[in-house]
Amino acid sequence: MKVLLATQKPFAAKAVEGIVSILTEAGHEVVKLEKYAEQADLVKAVADVEAMIIRSDKVTEEVMAAAPKLKIVVRAGAGFDNVDLAAATAKGIVVMNTPGQNSNAVAELALGLMIFMARTHFTPATGSELQGKRLGVQAYGNVGRLVGQKAKALGMEICALDPFLTDEQIIAGGATPVHSVEELYASSDYLSIHIPALPSTIGSIGYDLITKMPKGATLVNTARKEVIDEEGLRKALEEREDLKYVADVMPDNYDKLTKNFGYRVFATPKKMGAQTAEANVNAGLAAARQIVDFFATGNRKFQVNK
Ligand code: 3PG
Repeated sequence: MKVLLATQKPFAAKAVEGIVSILTEAGHEVVKLEKYAEQADLVKAVADVEAMIIRSDKVTEEVMAAAPKLKIVVRAGAGFDNVDLAAATAKGIVVMNTPGQNSNAVAELALGLMIFMARTHFTPATGSELQGKRLGVQAYGNVGRLVGQKAKALGMEICALDPFLTDEQIIAGGATPVHSVEELYASSDYLSIHIPALPSTIGSIGYDLITKMPKGATLVNTARKEVIDEEGLRKALEEREDLKYVADVMPDNYDKLTKNFGYRVFATPKKMGAQTAEANVNAGLAAARQIVDFFATGNRKFQVNK
């Protein structure tokens, strides 16, 4: 089968080598489309492929319509909001992700961003410490749990909200369960967001929630920019001069935020949470293995459009 590795943000060379070797050893052919400039390049590249490995690349209805042989898309990573699942299902295309494979990289970045903000962007200004502060984790899945556990090692107190987990599971993961989002925000000096972008979560974090945070709190978003109501965030930062926002996902109103709020706001220029060699290898190789297995045995374990 012909497998397209389509990565607008390319994997580390070691990951690409591993992906190519797993697929070619299993008798598949690999074609690469890296650092492409336009969506039209992706549309063109899928014409004769049976499988795709992607990252945050947008697999839209248009892409799938241009790929008559496409059977499987594996998102090498966790979030699959970049794939039109309904269109894939309608065309009988299997969509998978590789859950957990890049979580550690994102969790480490979340902690790094907290320290960066606590130390005022690494300027000589007097900063503060994470030890003794309360960390709220919104969604205690693969990434959230790692953030909680690492933060605990730094001496933070961890509480978590996750409607898909029991209190016992949250406690076993090292956090104190919290039962409402309002309570979580109200009790967190640092609030780390790990919810996916879904119709029910998009724009769900806005003025009302953010202003519930205690004095001096920092909101940390390594999830998706879409979950933030950006005008609500701006208003909250304007009214509450003590609050801070840090993100691995640049908000659309970032220029306005940095102009008005200076060191209280920071966003990475390009999403980089999963951009480590280790995460690239873990997620990339898992994606390649899932494709090999799918064609060899029909294994659909990580299918997300069931
Ligand atoms: C994910 O959902 O796995 C992360 O957001 C990483 O996305 P990326 O592969 O585009 O870096």
